[in-house]
Amino acid sequence: MLHLDRTPSTAGNKLKPDKFHNHRLRSKLTVWSFLFLTVFLVFFLISPSPSATFRGQSSPAFGGPQWEKQIVKSTRPRSTSGLTVLVTGAAGFVGSHVSLALKKRGDGVLGLDNFNNYYETSLKKARKGLLEQAGVFVIDADINDKSLLDKIFNVVAFTHVIHLAAQAGVRYAMQNPNSYVDSNIAGFVNLLETCKSSDPQPAIVWASSSSVYGVNKKVPFSEKDRTDQPASLYAATKKAGEAIAHAYNHIYGLSITGLRFFTVYGPWGRPDMAYFFFTRDIIRGKRITVYEAPDGASVARDFTYIDDIVKGCLAALDTAKKSTGSGGKKKGPAEFRIFNLGNTTPVPVSRLVSLLEKILKVKAETKVLPLPRNGDVQFTHANISLAQRELGYMPTTDLETGLKKFVRWYLSYYNSASASPSRKKNF
Ligand SMILES: NC(=O)c1ccc[n+]([C@@H]2O[C@H](COP(=O)([O-])OP(=O)(O)OC[C@H]3O[C@@H](n4cnc5c(N)ncnc54)[C@H](O)[C@@H]3O)[C@@H](O)[C@H]2O)c1
Ligand SMILES: *[C@@H]1O[C@H](CO)[C@@H](O)[C@H](O)[C@H]1NC(C)=O
Repeated sequence: MLHLDRTPSTAGNKLKPDKFHNHRLRSKLTVWSFLFLTVFLVFFLISPSPSATFRGQSSPAFGGPQWEKQIVKSTRPRSTSGLTVLVTGAAGFVGSHVSLALKKRGDGVLGLDNFNNYYETSLKKARKGLLEQAGVFVIDADINDKSLLDKIFNVVAFTHVIHLAAQAGVRYAMQNPNSYVDSNIAGFVNLLETCKSSDPQPAIVWASSSSVYGVNKKVPFSEKDRTDQPASLYAATKKAGEAIAHAYNHIYGLSITGLRFFTVYGPWGRPDMAYFFFTRDIIRGKRITVYEAPDGASVARDFTYIDDIVKGCLAALDTAKKSTGSGGKKKGPAEFRIFNLGNTTPVPVSRLVSLLEKILKVKAETKVLPLPRNGDVQFTHANISLAQRELGYMPTTDLETGLKKFVRWYLSYYNSASASPSRKKNF
């Protein structure tokens, strides 16, 4: 606008000597200005608003005294020694368990989740229901929403952030690669930007993944092993996250702990994972597909029970040193840690199937296929001695015990879920 206003007078100054000429030029300029203004306005009206750049689209109305009151109440620890924690991905599998565990022991907790439809949103909403019963407020928002994050951090001085929001899953990357970049890279940077600018800076614990070990053959996987050969886009974005975390630690003094989870399973788990859909399909009498490595070797996973993972997450929060910077300025070196959180006993998928057959008392119909080259690695096996030493981490649940607990939950959740519509009719 300023530019448009100035144009005629500048031109007018130069052409002062010839009045007549000056007049004609003025009217010409007016026409051109008008045209320019029209084009400018049209362009302005059709260009997208900045809030439409993340998948969550524009957020529902946030703010207001009632909203802030809910946040303050949810984040108030029971005692002065309690933590004040933001949990991203709180409606997710691990996030819901971690939120409940923190709240139960007296910490203040605020949840955040965008409830995306990667898998059934009804399950995420049911988890949110559990959290609300326990007094944890969950905000429906995307970690890419910078103004929302800033707003939350203005209301609460978080001592800790546990960042579990991510696009998980390995195979889905072939359908929707950008969702991995949006949540695991752009979203993570957005969150770190808010954390580094906040005063005080929180200590950050976040979920990386065992998938960063990629196609490594040396087992068990140790934190010192190379992680530069990812076998999936998911793994590549987690590896990128580790590098980004290091940069933010280095530049801004943020205390950051990355946890490399190994195949987490249990009640309220993720429907896209094999133990979950095998259970569903075996119950329904549907044939399941079991993958085998090219050389006929079995595919194996270091299955880790959710309660063990939760203990590891809480220990990481409790042992995390404070961030050293504030308001975007580093004041000294800060802690940077990476831990494997696994179970140390890899189990072949064939054993997973036979355990489920035993627990469900149903014979599974299986089809064996060669492992497709779309991201799944052949095996994972954690060396957890570092987490043992630094976090006191010691998994205690074996796969059979954990699967029994999962199946019990699965049957009660889906039986009552399918019964609820008819129950509703009775009212
Ligand atoms: N479950 C496992 O076996 C496993 C293994 C290794 C790593 N991890 C990592 O652990 C974390 C938790 O995994 P999970 O199994 O609970 O997965 P999950 O999908 O159940 O939970 C992630 C949650 O984050 C939310 N989310 C995703 N993108 C978001 C965004 N942009 N903004 C706000 N919320 C968003 C989702 O709606 C979901 O509820 C993830 O970072 C995952 O990559 C999990
Ligand atoms: C496990 O990792 C530690 C270092 O954290 C290492 O000293 C030890 O040798 C590893 N164990 C095995 C069996 O590789």
